[in-house]
Amino acid sequence: SLTSVIAVIISYLLGSVSFSVVLARTLKGIDIRQHGSGNAGATNTLRVLGKGPAILVLVLDVLKGIAAIWLGRWIGDDSDWVPAICGIAAIIGHNWPIYFRFRGGKGIATTIGVMASLAFLPSLIAGLIAIVSIVITRYVSLGSLLFVGLTPILLLIMGAHGPYFWTSLIICVFAFWRHRTNIVKIAQGKENKLGSKGGSRV
Ligand code: G3P
Repeated sequence: SLTSVIAVIISYLLGSVSFSVVLARTLKGIDIRQHGSGNAGATNTLRVLGKGPAILVLVLDVLKGIAAIWLGRWIGDDSDWVPAICGIAAIIGHNWPIYFRFRGGKGIATTIGVMASLAFLPSLIAGLIAIVSIVITRYVSLGSLLFVGLTPILLLIMGAHGPYFWTSLIICVFAFWRHRTNIVKIAQGKENKLGSKGGSRV
């Protein structure tokens, strides 16, 4: 129905609010996309602006995903597909934001909000594995890819092969596409590690 379409559009507009871009501009008057890895996300905010701003960006970008799912459930039709597509729309907004010349982030924080809202337990398990891998390897990008790769697998293992499984698979494809530079750098051993300066410019 019309309200479902409106929910999807609002989710895209909401996802488009790049909090890393907004915060870097407000705090330092810079475009975060010209610093560090060039990515408009929490990881690059940590590199460029430090811990406090990074945590703030992470929380706000996660909340965009949660809000999109709520909105889909609240004003959408009574179908699991509506919140799921709202979540995907928020991630598309985060990656390709309408307000910032369509140059955004890699969608991981927003994906965490979306997947934790749709499938909490698989997200929790995937999240814990991702955190352990980040602590060991210090590659945030590798942890991100583990998270998005594991959620569809865990959903399948738990017997979910409906809308939420397909959503997590689509999200996984987006994330791998957005991390293609990181993947090459990881393979070359040149990927930026947590705590060191620089980054792989996208
Ligand atoms: O969520 C983004 C992260 O996986 C990688 O960010 O800036 O290191 O490319 P970055």
